[in-house]
Amino acid sequence: LVAVELLGLRGAGLLMLIFVFGRVMPRIMSLHESVQTLLASVPAFTVVMRVIDGCEAHAERTAEAAAARMPLLRDVRFDRVSYSYAGATAPAIDDVSFMIPAGRTTAFVGASGAGKSTLADLLIGLLRPASGSVRIDDRPLLPDDTAGWRQSIGYVPQDSFLLHDTVRANLLWAKPDATEADMWNALERAAAAGFLRARREGLDTIVGDRGVRVSGGERQRLALARALLVKPSLLVLDEATSALDSHNEEQILAAVRGLAGTVTTVIVTHRLSAIRRADMIHVVDQGAIIESGTWDDLLSRGGAFAIRLAEQGLAHTL
Ligand SMILES: Nc1ncnc2c1ncn2[C@@H]1O[C@H](COP(=O)(O)OP(=O)(O)O)[C@@H](O)[C@H]1O
Ligand SMILES: [Mg+2]
Repeated sequence: LVAVELLGLRGAGLLMLIFVFGRVMPRIMSLHESVQTLLASVPAFTVVMRVIDGCEAHAERTAEAAAARMPLLRDVRFDRVSYSYAGATAPAIDDVSFMIPAGRTTAFVGASGAGKSTLADLLIGLLRPASGSVRIDDRPLLPDDTAGWRQSIGYVPQDSFLLHDTVRANLLWAKPDATEADMWNALERAAAAGFLRARREGLDTIVGDRGVRVSGGERQRLALARALLVKPSLLVLDEATSALDSHNEEQILAAVRGLAGTVTTVIVTHRLSAIRRADMIHVVDQGAIIESGTWDDLLSRGGAFAIRLAEQGLAHTL
């Protein structure tokens, strides 16, 4: 936490850090091997300089802390959005259009590598479309707005990052002026209050730097509470329950269902069991949306979704 305070990371900076741990770190880890090979042939200095240049090129003005939050009153629209990663042969997102209505739960489902997380990153303004636009209440999300937009988003990745500190410190990090009542309210809504009340330390319970002293399910519920504490305009769960067993997954999903009507929620997952109750499901495949509808619509259509459902052994159970 000291490091965090020294760096002055708050709000949007926090989201960025959560994002870095949840999404970028695994990729950096997998890049490690290739980097090893690279280092053997290219002087290390050049590589480092290139990374630094890349970071500087992508850095944003640090007015983030002061950026005004953006409400979401009607919808978020993707209008013919495409995105390609540098060096990739095919676009990761290819001419995609859809609408996320405020107050509802919208799900994006598809196999690993389909482009779901890239969609989520475009949605939260971490990536910018190469073409097309992302519109918040019909206003295009411009580079100057992204800091404010990110302050308005609660983001929970698969492997949430918790500071090795108390639950209180982890929550206050997201919202330094939160009261005790705000914290318990967020914990309640995230189904995280029960297990904390069961511990004598309550909000002073220590959670490890990777949440070692709480279970995976508890860690994700704390991360959800932290995301809810800022009263987000948009809650994005990217595979947030994918590493959990079905009991723990269901506890989080029940908590998310309890937010229905009050929080606009986007669930991104390869696991169909997580999206049974979504208001709208979009099936993502190779950077495109190939089917959209409710669970029942998609099941009766007998297309890609129904086939995946059968593959995951869920066609008759849900
Ligand atoms: N940072 C990145 N650099 C290069 N390629 C990437 C990066 N992130 C994702 N990709 C590629 O883009 C495609 C979509 O990835 P992703 O959005 O993570 O899919 P999903 O979340 O559905 O598993 C994949 O082919 C993946 O390898
Ligand atoms: Mg993903």
